[in-house]
Amino acid sequence: MPILKIARMGHPVLLGRAAEVTDPTAPEMRRLIADMIETMVDADGAGLAAPQVHVPLRMFVFRVGAERSTGVAGDAPSGVSVVINPELDLLTDERVPCWEGCLSIPGLRALVPRSPRIRYRGLDAEGAPFTRDAAGFHANVVQHEYDHLNGVLYPMRVTDFASFGFNEEIARAVAARQERADATA
Ligand code: NI
Repeated sequence: MPILKIARMGHPVLLGRAAEVTDPTAPEMRRLIADMIETMVDADGAGLAAPQVHVPLRMFVFRVGAERSTGVAGDAPSGVSVVINPELDLLTDERVPCWEGCLSIPGLRALVPRSPRIRYRGLDAEGAPFTRDAAGFHANVVQHEYDHLNGVLYPMRVTDFASFGFNEEIARAVAARQERADATA
């Protein structure tokens, strides 16, 4: 199975509204899902939406790694989930800033305000409908991937641009702050 080419910010495929999947269990969908999972794992990503691999359909894959799970209810570590034709409800007006990156915007991250609790519906890889409540990182990654299906990239949601930066610089700044905190402890 091939690793797919990931579209980078600036490519128009990332900016449109993706179309509903008409036959979730069609052979070409099964192939696309398998290739997207392989591509996400190869790129060490937490999620990947079909428009990011130049397929403008309403489908994404994601995983909640043990290192990302916050341990709150609705945020258990999980293997790969497949979500087709999703609908999303934000369950609170509260917005919590969360660090986000994107495989289409390599090397960068920022704080993005997200709802800490969501409910979403969709079809799984077998075409079976499901409804899930999610919180923490799980809720965060689903909001991010759902945005991709509507042509929204995370920088469009950033409110604190002082947080927008390169991964290495942010990691360095965090380490320096930690060192200062240790020195004064
Ligand atoms: Ni993304």
